[in-house]
Amino acid sequence: MLQYNQGLVRGVVLAGGLGSRLDPITRIVNKHLLPVYDKPMIYYPIQALVNAGIENILVVTGGRNAGDFLRLLGNGREFGLKHLDYTYQEGEGGIAEALDLARHFSRGEKLCVMLGDNIIEKNIIRAVNAFRRQEGGARILLKDVADPGRYGVPRFEGDRMVAIEEKPDAPGSSYAVTGIYMFDDTVFEKIERLERSDRGELEITDVNNQYLAEGTMRWDVLDGWWTDAGTFEGLLRASQHVSSSGANKL
Ligand code: G1P
Repeated sequence: MLQYNQGLVRGVVLAGGLGSRLDPITRIVNKHLLPVYDKPMIYYPIQALVNAGIENILVVTGGRNAGDFLRLLGNGREFGLKHLDYTYQEGEGGIAEALDLARHFSRGEKLCVMLGDNIIEKNIIRAVNAFRRQEGGARILLKDVADPGRYGVPRFEGDRMVAIEEKPDAPGSSYAVTGIYMFDDTVFEKIERLERSDRGELEITDVNNQYLAEGTMRWDVLDGWWTDAGTFEGLLRASQHVSSSGANKL
């Protein structure tokens, strides 16, 4: 029997969704399998979790070509893993709905969740280790960006983060909440309390706001470049960044 281990963090890569912002190139190929410079997109978040010392990883996929992930990634040997877990998201109910599929996988341990289209330059091991030591709660990574209104955006009162707003018209700061989220196992109770947003999704921002409200949310600012490769500009930027400086020791 596995014992509850406070230092153990399990990884989840979310790679479902329709990728409609990249239509028509996502009509046949899942967004997370598109090339980013010389590798399929999903290699980068998996490698980022491995580089942070995470050995148990679940890939949540969906859509029409889910079997492609298994053919591509197998048991994760290319990443030095012994095994990869997979699960299938039916429909496109949002990030929090996809994360709910990790309930069984989590075994009550802490999770580091990474969106399959988020690509980063530097190792996040310091933040993940801080979360390993953290007594429960959540931890997110922020990045200063030119266009925060496209993302989840934190609002501060002094040094204190008071709320996160999803794609606000009037952003409360210049930070984006990146798609790297660390949660304790109370995340699943929090997902149960969610209601669908105007875009019909269970929003990860509403999960984060529950942690903020209970005072258990911590945050770090991400070092190095970060890009969400889910739009044409983002996809191009990702390839340019990777070709010029490499990503996270892939
Ligand atoms: C999602 C989240 C958003 C976050 C972004 C990071 O946005 O909802 O809060 O800042 O990922 O990539 P989406 O890609 O679903 O529009």
